[in-house]
Amino acid sequence: MKNSYSNIFSFNKRILKKSIENLNNGNIVALPTETVYGLAVNAYVRNSVQKIYKLKGRPKSNPLIVHYYNLKDVSRDIEINENFRKLYNKFCPGPITFILNKKRGSKINSLVTAKLNTVAVRFPKHSVVRSILKEIRFPLAMPSANKSTSVSPVSAEDVFDEFKKNIKLIINGGRCTVGIESTVIDLTDVPKILRPGVIDKKLIEKILKKKIKVNITNKKIMSPGMMRKHYSPGIPVLINQKKHDGKSAFIYLGNKNKNKKKFFSLSKNLDLNKAASNLYRIFRLIKKKGYKKIQISKIPNLGSGIAINDRIKRASKF
Ligand code: TXA
Ligand code: MG
Repeated sequence: MKNSYSNIFSFNKRILKKSIENLNNGNIVALPTETVYGLAVNAYVRNSVQKIYKLKGRPKSNPLIVHYYNLKDVSRDIEINENFRKLYNKFCPGPITFILNKKRGSKINSLVTAKLNTVAVRFPKHSVVRSILKEIRFPLAMPSANKSTSVSPVSAEDVFDEFKKNIKLIINGGRCTVGIESTVIDLTDVPKILRPGVIDKKLIEKILKKKIKVNITNKKIMSPGMMRKHYSPGIPVLINQKKHDGKSAFIYLGNKNKNKKKFFSLSKNLDLNKAASNLYRIFRLIKKKGYKKIQISKIPNLGSGIAINDRIKRASKF
């Protein structure tokens, strides 16, 4: 076991130093965040950013999220506004990404933003990435650590499964607690959710004290990463399923089928946050077990259920 994972490291002072060294040298480091694992590089350096697009097989038209330590750091590169302040104070560090205008003279490389004048910024909560961000003098461009269109990794071993030894340094920070990608909200104009997450519309409306639009269609370049074919586990996924076909892996909520082999519960007690945190893990598990197809029962469309439905709908477009 140990040998096949020779590029996965537990976090300590030595590995903190090694991670920073690698980032300074322009190498990709795979890091845990509370949402999913990411591939990190210096967001100011074109050559480094280029490596990410290449490794992921990601279209250059799909911009990356830039990760900062705090408000002071982000203010160097980004125009902040009142809605941002309110949401930052409530939810950050945490699983939410803000689309804001780039400042004139910002050092963020244009490859990161796919030449847009806006930037996606996030303040991750996981202690590993925070302790790195605290030490370095540049923000991290960091997409999810999966090949383009496949499922985001939620453990260090998942990252290894995606890229094997093509990454020198994968930091093990345990299983991601949130388990799906951050909420993306555009704050450049009237606030608009571009990618639903566990910080949902209702929570955001409560803080901003107004109705929030949701725009997760795939028109033009709203959130260019929100392509229809995305989050695919690599086998067909059927949603809103009522009856098991006898062969496929069946994903559901609850504990009704707990002793049946082909049944996988997202949450025994119908907790939708828990369900979100198990979704990608269970997708990978099912694929590993060799199933040829996934059926998923209807998931309530509220709270984190909205984000789950968004991801499984995209997965079903495979
Ligand atoms: O939870 C997360 O957000 C994870 C962790 C690693 O932080 N990262 C992540 O990154 O999910 P990625 O690259 O897989 O997804 C970024 C999303 C894409 O849908 C992209 O199109 C969108 O953010 N995005 C980035 N910059 C944007 C911009 N300027 N305008 C609109 N959408 C943007
Ligand atoms: Mg991604």
